[in-house]
Amino acid sequence: MRTRIRKAVFPVGGLGTRFLPVTRSLPKEMLPVVDTPLIQYAIDEARAAGIEEFIFVTGRGKSAIEDHFDRCLELENVLSTRGKAREMKAIEREVPQPGHAVFTRQQRPLGLGHAVWCARNLVGDEPFAVMLPDDLIMAETPCLEQMTQAYGSIGGNMVAVMEVSPVETSRYGILCPGNTQGRLVEGLTIIEKPRPENAPSNLAAIGRYILEPRIFHHLHKLRPGAGGELQLTDGISRMVGESRLHGFRFSGRRFDCGDKIGYFEANIAYALARHDLAEDARRVLASFSTERRQAPFRAIDGAESQDVNRATGS
Ligand code: G1P
Repeated sequence: MRTRIRKAVFPVGGLGTRFLPVTRSLPKEMLPVVDTPLIQYAIDEARAAGIEEFIFVTGRGKSAIEDHFDRCLELENVLSTRGKAREMKAIEREVPQPGHAVFTRQQRPLGLGHAVWCARNLVGDEPFAVMLPDDLIMAETPCLEQMTQAYGSIGGNMVAVMEVSPVETSRYGILCPGNTQGRLVEGLTIIEKPRPENAPSNLAAIGRYILEPRIFHHLHKLRPGAGGELQLTDGISRMVGESRLHGFRFSGRRFDCGDKIGYFEANIAYALARHDLAEDARRVLASFSTERRQAPFRAIDGAESQDVNRATGS
């Protein structure tokens, strides 16, 4: 029998320090890739996988996310008066049914494991998905849908995985792999951010999980792990033995939008994938490679670029 995954948890309480200064007032999940905020891509992917209930674990200063998923009657009136049917449809599509999006606060930034634990009463007693909006995945079949299809026949806990460069293991949860069957890799354990010399493989967890509700019991007992935080990975590894763990090698391209260059790359890739933008985007990219040869831009570091913005009032 196929287990239906109806609920997804979106841990969106993080401070976004890697994107300062913009994240002083804007949640990092609201950063746009082309014209769509990261959180919207995650919600669209969840919907495609059949998710009906969206649980946001937020924090202070994140109210823009809640506003984004609310109706904006003023805007709707203007669009309708001006006969902008396409735009109307786009914003209507984004708003969940009343009562299907819920928000709770993490209150203290104690780590991803703690953030997921904060959703325990909202999830209840059924398997659920966890999605990290920083990990943007471009795929023909959206990543979570690939996972829910595979999950039905095996159950347990499932984590999306991909190979990363062996020197990067200390940035990820790393799977200790057992047997492989197609896209599924049995997980003997999973370790949060091991140094390359201690890493059991280079198979990294990417921000898509399907978890059994029993995880909450283990998250409750967590002690601080890597980086002094309560790690989701540690909760998952505590369950190995009572429940099966699988890594799922998804098909698609992942962009690390928690990182400036990954975010920049995502903007390029998504612009190139858009019919309305691809041609112009290609032209602009080509112009940069020739302009650079002719007239190099003045190099500025991050802090200096803020001063430039201030000076020009941009
Ligand atoms: C989190 C998880 C880590 C996972 C990563 C994927 O780390 O803790 O296991 O590999 O997301 O992006 P973070 O990027 O929040 O440090």
